[in-house]
Amino acid sequence: MLGIFDSGVGGLSVLRHIRAQLPRADLLYFADTAHVPYGPRPLAEVRAFAEAITRFLLAQGARVIVVACNTASAAALKYLRATFPETPFVGMEPAVKPAAEQTRTGVVGVLATPATFQGELFNSVVERFANGVTVLPQVCPGLVQQIEAGRLDTPDTEAMLRGWVEPLLAQNIDVLVLGCTHYPFVIPLLEKICGPGVRVIDPAPAVARQTARVAAERLRVAEGEGRVAYFISGDVIEFERALERLGIERGEVRAVTWSGTMLHLA
Ligand code: DGL
Repeated sequence: MLGIFDSGVGGLSVLRHIRAQLPRADLLYFADTAHVPYGPRPLAEVRAFAEAITRFLLAQGARVIVVACNTASAAALKYLRATFPETPFVGMEPAVKPAAEQTRTGVVGVLATPATFQGELFNSVVERFANGVTVLPQVCPGLVQQIEAGRLDTPDTEAMLRGWVEPLLAQNIDVLVLGCTHYPFVIPLLEKICGPGVRVIDPAPAVARQTARVAAERLRVAEGEGRVAYFISGDVIEFERALERLGIERGEVRAVTWSGTMLHLA
C-alpha cells in the first residue's frame, strides 16, 4: 500500500495523478485537517506532525510514503528519510527547474506557504536550478482555507489571487509555479487572471510518475485492488463533502484523533 499525506485536501491534487499512474494500487490518504493550515506554523511543529503521520501510515500497512504537501516536505523530508531509512519517500519541491527551462522572459513566480519559503529545500532548489532566471516568491495567506472551504471560484478568492498574481505579472513573469498542493484546485481562476501568455505549472503529474517508479521497485505496492481509504484528523463529514466537490474518488473515510504526538483510530 501507498501512504499519502497532507494538511488537508491539497494532497488530493497529487492523489488523482497517482491514481492515473497506478490504477490498481491501494492508497491510504491522511488529511491532518485538525491542524490545517500548516503553512504559517514553525517548521519543527510541522516536522513532528509529519513524523507521527508517517508512523501511523506505516502501522496501517503503507510501504511507500508520498509527502503530498510542499510545507511538510520543506519541514521534514530529510528528517523522515533519516528516521525511517527502510521506507522510500516521495516529496514535493517547488518546480523551479522546469520553470527555469521554460521561461522566455527570464522571470518566474512561485506561489507557496511561508514555511515552504523558509525551508532550506526552496533555497537549494533555486541555487541548483534557477540558472540565472529571476525567481519571485509569493506567499498566499488565507488561500489554503478558501480551498478547504470549497471556495474555488468565488469573487473573494479571485480578488485574493489577483492581489498576489498581478504584481508578479507586472514584473513580467511568464511561468507561475504552484508550490503548494492545494493551489492546483484554483488553476482555472489562475489561468483566467494570468491569460494565455503565462504557463501555470502543477508539479503533481511529475510527482505521480516518480511515485510510480518508486512503487514499481517495491513488491506489490502497485498491485492491489485499486482502493483508497481516507484518514481524517478533523471533521469527517466536511471531508466527504470535499471529496465530492473536488471530484475525487470515493473510499472509506475514517476519523483519527491526536493524543499528544500520537495518532489513534477513533
Ligand atoms: N498543501 C500544503 C502544501 O503543499 C499545505 C498547505 C497548508 O496547510 O498551509 O504546502
